[in-house]
Amino acid sequence: MHLISLKNIYSKQLPNMPKEYIVRLLLHYSHKSVVLLKRNGTVMGGITYRAFTPQGFGEIAFCAIASSEQVKGYGTRLMNYTKEYAVTMDHLSHFLTYADNNAVGYFT
Ligand code: COA
Repeated sequence: MHLISLKNIYSKQLPNMPKEYIVRLLLHYSHKSVVLLKRNGTVMGGITYRAFTPQGFGEIAFCAIASSEQVKGYGTRLMNYTKEYAVTMDHLSHFLTYADNNAVGYFT
C-alpha cells in the first residue's frame, strides 16, 4: 500500500515520467524504496533506487516529496536516511542518477 501511495506521489511530481514506467521500476524486485511516513501513516515521499552491490553503487530512479510537504527539509532528511541505509545494508559507496534541468539543483 505504501508503494502504491508513493507511485501516486511520483506520478504527480514527475509528470514527464509515464505511469507504467514508474510502476514497472517501483515494483521490480531489483529496486528498493525508502518511504517517508507521517506519524499517522500517510506517505510523504520517497526514494527508489537499484543497488549494484558488486560494483558498490546505487542508481537513484525516482525521488519526490508530496507538494504540500516540500521545502520543509523532508527531502534532505529522506536522502540522508537513504544514504545511511545504502552504506550500512547494501554496502554501497556511491549513488548515480540521471537528472534533468529541474532536478539538477536538488542533486548538486
Ligand atoms: N528545485 C531545485 N531545488 C529545490 C527544489 C526544486 N524543485 N525543491 C527544493 N529544492 C532545494 C531546497 O531549496 C533546498 O536547498 P538548500 O538546502 O540549499 O536550501 C534543498 O533542495 C533541500 O530542500 P528540502 O526541503 O529538503 O527538499 P524537499 O523536501 O522540498 O524535497 C524534492 C526536494 C526535489 C524531492 C522535491 O522538491 C520534489 O519532490 N520535487 C519534484 C520531484 C523532483 O524533481 N525530484 C527530483 C528528481 S527525480
